[in-house]
Amino acid sequence: MVLPTRPQAQSLTVLDNRTGKVFEFPIENNSIEASHFKDLVEPGQDEPLRIYDPAFQNTAVAKSAICYIDGDKGILHYRGYPIEELAEKSTFLEVAYLLIYGELPTKPQADEWSHQIMRHTFLHFQVGQLMKNFNYDAHPMGMFISVMAGMSTFHAEANPSLTNTDLYLKNEKIRNQQIHRILGKAATIAASSYRHRIGREHNMPRNNLSYTENFLFMMDHLSEENYMPNPVLSKALDVLFILHADHELNCSTAAMRHISSSKVDPYCAVAGAAAALYGPLHGGACEAVLRMLEEIGSKENVPAFLEGVKKKERKLMGFGHRIYKNYDPRARIIKKTAYQVFEVVGSEPLIDIAIALEQAALSDPYFIERQLYPNVDFYSGLIYKAMGFPTDFFPVLFATPRVAGWLAHWNEAVVDEGGKIWRPRQIYTGHEKRSYIPSEYRKNNIQTAPPQISPFSKRSMVATWSSKL
Ligand code: CMC
Repeated sequence: MVLPTRPQAQSLTVLDNRTGKVFEFPIENNSIEASHFKDLVEPGQDEPLRIYDPAFQNTAVAKSAICYIDGDKGILHYRGYPIEELAEKSTFLEVAYLLIYGELPTKPQADEWSHQIMRHTFLHFQVGQLMKNFNYDAHPMGMFISVMAGMSTFHAEANPSLTNTDLYLKNEKIRNQQIHRILGKAATIAASSYRHRIGREHNMPRNNLSYTENFLFMMDHLSEENYMPNPVLSKALDVLFILHADHELNCSTAAMRHISSSKVDPYCAVAGAAAALYGPLHGGACEAVLRMLEEIGSKENVPAFLEGVKKKERKLMGFGHRIYKNYDPRARIIKKTAYQVFEVVGSEPLIDIAIALEQAALSDPYFIERQLYPNVDFYSGLIYKAMGFPTDFFPVLFATPRVAGWLAHWNEAVVDEGGKIWRPRQIYTGHEKRSYIPSEYRKNNIQTAPPQISPFSKRSMVATWSSKL
């Protein structure tokens, strides 16, 4: 064993006790490249030392300049801009541009961007037909995911495997075309899934409206002439869209980067990311929060409900976060926005239960010790409910703006990662090699040791097994 005499300050010295070898690995960006550990091999073994990190609890899988979170302080920035400032002063489309291209657009850039997105809001007639074939009570998230994947069949030229695998790497124009289409059509697919859900004809988009105004128009317009969504409600939805647009490598964005690393087209990758978001531990939590509040029913039932949570009979939905160990800054803005919406549409009675639940949880040692605070999903569902959206539509209202973040990460990964497919490793804990046993010789799923293959005939082998079983 020879220890380095003067190790670099920004380095990690590792002594492998199995071999006595010492390694010095550089620390860059407060991290170590896992591939350095490939040098650590036990004598007689083929496999190098692996880093085991189930559920990626302390693993960085990409370098990214899009989104910054300080979970201990409750800070969130998009491209360096605090989320509070963007929510107050910007618009969703401007934020989408910022996330994807790295800078806020100039006025001409913003006009061109908005023009390109809004002119791509129209769906192919057959996509509309596709949506009409879902069952009347289909979950809107299932429709969103399926139709997004289905769009890949309408834009086959966007599939690198059909053209060349470096398609997007080399051609920014083609990348931008997919970005315009996906962002434009996401709102229309979402609104159409809602219309289908409530049994009404789909509305055609209105290009002269803002992204969120058009979204509300497509959902709510019936036969009124010159219908315009309420400006307070469209502003509130725009703020919610800004807050949901990105959140670094959350489950769905990691899925987006993972899926698109195989160079599949971005429509299928967005569909896969949306599927990851649908789960109740991620974007499905806003739906689950509302169902939980309805089940609690009144403020008096809050203590009993929390007792059940502490006994781990269930989770307090809309609470806790892998990164935030402080109040989620988005939840604070959403809580404020909720009251602005209530001024227009009337108060949502469940807000009282939510506030009682939050207060009780934040003063309870169980939640304090585990640093569990309200997250983005805790109050958003109350706004959606007050605005009249059905509960199962809530995750779609999360997924639609998150498309901007998924595309930003896709765009970044295509260029920066230069085409490496994501392929994690596993720790194999299964059987040693064993031989197949025909079903008639298996008992209660307990597989007996395989018989020795003898040079006898098949008939004599069966006789040998029968006598053992
Ligand atoms: N209710 C009750 N206990 C909780 C909760 C909760 N919501 N969240 C975490 N805990 C407990 C957990 O049981 C564990 O306790 P113990 O140490 O005794 O085993 C401890 O806190 C640490 O939790 P964890 O499960 O190791 O944390 P995680 O980082 O793996 O999970 C989470 C993060 C968001 C999945 C989790 O907090 C959760 O399930 N929350 C409820 C679902 C939710 O609101 N999801 C939305 C997340 S924010 C928006 C988004 O990303 O979509």
